[in-house]
Amino acid sequence: MSVAIVTGAGSGIGRAIAERLVADGYKVLVNDFRAEAAAEVAAGLGASAHGIGGDVSDESDVAAMVAAAETAFGPVTHLVNNAGHVHQGRFLDLTVADFDRMIAVHLRGSFLCTHAVLRGMLDRGAGVIVNVASQLGQIGGVELVHYSAAKAGIIGLTKALAREVSAQGVRVNAVAPGPINTPLVRSLSEDWQRAKAATLPLGRFGEAEEVAATVAFLCSPAASLFVGQTLGPNSGDVML
Ligand SMILES: NC(=O)c1ccc[n+]([C@@H]2O[C@H](COP(=O)([O-])OP(=O)(O)OC[C@H]3O[C@@H](n4cnc5c(N)ncnc54)[C@H](O)[C@@H]3O)[C@@H](O)[C@H]2O)c1
Repeated sequence: MSVAIVTGAGSGIGRAIAERLVADGYKVLVNDFRAEAAAEVAAGLGASAHGIGGDVSDESDVAAMVAAAETAFGPVTHLVNNAGHVHQGRFLDLTVADFDRMIAVHLRGSFLCTHAVLRGMLDRGAGVIVNVASQLGQIGGVELVHYSAAKAGIIGLTKALAREVSAQGVRVNAVAPGPINTPLVRSLSEDWQRAKAATLPLGRFGEAEEVAATVAFLCSPAASLFVGQTLGPNSGDVML
């Protein structure tokens, strides 16, 4: 049985990933910092999903999340590190607390969740980890030094871990989405959204379901040759 943990699945891309994986036959542990959002998404997915609140940057919350997945469904076969937030500010206006929180949620969170499931995957000789980075980790974002640094860190984590564990049956990859139509992006100004969409070769932002399709591919056996890669569902904004 395939058992996936999707972090930050109470909204946006994570929610779409949870929905897609359930549709593909997985059992899914829906995590979110906002416990009521996790519970609501899981309830909508029926018996194949279980919701739990928890902060991915908190070691004991992460341990409780993995224990809940194992109790509900059995050993965790897939982990999608998706939880994240955005916050903009010019570099000199960023506080140390802003920087620390950004690194804690995105990078420490990915580290902790991976740490909590990897030993079991290695013992079983099988597992898949997909990290949700951002194209801003590849090209940098305006007034987003802390966010861009955290996402670049996730890409580095992905590559280094993939080198270490692939031969033991654990595949590690990342996605680096462009602008996706979620609450996170809708919190930015409408002027910015309009101007940004006009610059995209595709002419529009992506939908969460389109990122979920890329993640579902990386989770599947069809992606058996993808190791340490960063795929870009990004409307053509970044071409590598
Ligand atoms: N929307 C985009 O354009 C875009 C582009 C590139 C990358 N991303 C990344 O995709 C991921 C999902 O973003 P989204 O657009 O769906 O945003 P969203 O705000 O719709 O959803 C993010 C979810 O993560 C949860 N979360 C935040 N901090 C958490 C924590 N510490 N522990 C557990 N859950 C936490 C939030 O409560 C929220 O439900 C993020 O990592 C984001 O950086 C988004």
